Amino acid sequence: MDNQPKENLIKEIFSWKEKREAIILAHVYQPDEIQDIADFTGDSLFLSQQAAKTQAKVIVFCGVQFMAETASILSPEKIILLPEIKAGCPLSDMAPIEKVKKKLKELPKVAIISYVNSSAVVKSLSDYCCTSANAVQIVQTIPAEKDILFIPDKNLADFTARKAKRNIIPWQGYCPVHNILTKEDVIKVKKLHPQALLLVHPECRPEVCNLADYIGSTRGIIEFASNNPAKEYIIGTELGIFHPLKKNNPNKQFFPASEKMICKDMKLITLEKVLHSLKKLEPRIIVPENIRKKSLKALNRMIEIT
Ligand code: 13P
Ligand code: SF4
Repeated sequence: MDNQPKENLIKEIFSWKEKREAIILAHVYQPDEIQDIADFTGDSLFLSQQAAKTQAKVIVFCGVQFMAETASILSPEKIILLPEIKAGCPLSDMAPIEKVKKKLKELPKVAIISYVNSSAVVKSLSDYCCTSANAVQIVQTIPAEKDILFIPDKNLADFTARKAKRNIIPWQGYCPVHNILTKEDVIKVKKLHPQALLLVHPECRPEVCNLADYIGSTRGIIEFASNNPAKEYIIGTELGIFHPLKKNNPNKQFFPASEKMICKDMKLITLEKVLHSLKKLEPRIIVPENIRKKSLKALNRMIEIT
């Protein structure tokens, strides 16, 4: 696509956005050009907070299914659009509801924390929701004598258990994008850039996290790099984050811990699909009311604590 048609496309998106009284939210793993047209970009927590408080009638969620579902749970009166309905999350798919129900029968007394990267129906069975930005905080509010089941990311469960000094029963799921990063990959890149600080997402493996100078959500990583005097960073999360990192810090250098850290689902959204969504008001995400009400409790608990 040359620049002119792309410019026209963007103009059309903005004009339809106004007509629809819509806002565009984009996760920082989205393609650069999608991040550039968004009203708000950020991590899962920040975007869910924006979805909850916006006055807009329509939310175009440039992210994946669980994010748009979360927006629908928090704001049922709004029209929630996910420009590509097939944009899912393999991590969320690792906790199918039947298996979760079976596990809960085996562990009837546990407190259940579901990572926001889970389906609405899994959230509806949970006591608390969390994101990578607040998992430790949420765990710290649960009485010490209570056992905790953490669904679905085993790496985030491990990080949270160590930080909060609590025993956590992990669900055996993982994010394929973060779990692909090995200790050997990191050691190789560290040798090339010995001065660089290593910043990683807690969905990375424990042995990778052990080498890090900072472990945090995508927003945490951006804030750390922006506020730290160091000039070089190795980044262990999805490559979309390089766009805001470079934009906010033109005088710093960022190196990927692995070029393989690309979330295919996040890259399914295009400018054409955003325009189509705004024109047709589809694909629309609606969480059935009985599931919505139950999952809202877990999400509200998270929002109150954070
Ligand atoms: P955060 O947005 O919480 O950093 O999580 C990353 C992620 O994997 C979203 O899909
Ligand atoms: Fe899911 Fe991982 Fe992609 Fe996030 S990066 S949407 S957790 S597969």
